[in-house]
Amino acid sequence: MPTDTRATRLAVLISGGGSNLRALLDVIAADAGFGGEVVVVGSDRTDAAGLEHARTAGVATVVEELPRGADAATRAAWEQRLTEGLAAHQPEVVVLAGFMRILSGGFLARWPDRVVNTHPSLLPAFRGAHAVREALAHGVKLTGCTVHLVDEEVDHGPILAQEAVPVLPGDTEVALHERIKAVEHRLLPACVRALCHDHVTVVGRRAEVRLAPDTAEQELHP
Ligand code: GAR
Repeated sequence: MPTDTRATRLAVLISGGGSNLRALLDVIAADAGFGGEVVVVGSDRTDAAGLEHARTAGVATVVEELPRGADAATRAAWEQRLTEGLAAHQPEVVVLAGFMRILSGGFLARWPDRVVNTHPSLLPAFRGAHAVREALAHGVKLTGCTVHLVDEEVDHGPILAQEAVPVLPGDTEVALHERIKAVEHRLLPACVRALCHDHVTVVGRRAEVRLAPDTAEQELHP
């Protein structure tokens, strides 16, 4: 919202517990200058526990189940229904917060450089659906999270912010993931806020982001 005080309309997509959705809603509620509001929450799963966070906050939900093993035509029709369901709420930024489906170029073209994802690793390491498990199995001593713009490759687009999380002796996947999520809960809202204020500039695959001062003002990838 660079030229007026209107809040940027946000869609959030989830597949699971939705702790990142909850964190985003909480940060927005606590920050009068956030510049964005969640207008719709979408999911590919009717049983996504995070949908409850949307309902509690009075935010509309759009749920489109995608059956396992769906063929290309079924997937395309599913994505079309999801897109139309979201578009009815006129979002300007789409936030993938634990959304475990790949979206096509057609979806992304509708919100160019305005689809943002959080991923529980320091990309480009450990892309895909099992990033925390794979980091542990690989024996890395440092992992973390990455917030990035989404392009047509999985977990690949311009990086907005990253933060490291140490792997501790005896860590389990759940324990490590919880510590990563605690960082995501701060980093994802900070990046969404920057998008709402047009504080993100993308050149090629490099993004320059101005985060709010209270999130440690920093120029990333100078
Ligand atoms: C988050 O850690 C997010 O980074 C991850 O799913 C978790 C969702 O947690 N996403 C991916 O792995 C995508 N590749 P939440 O449902 O509690 O917000």
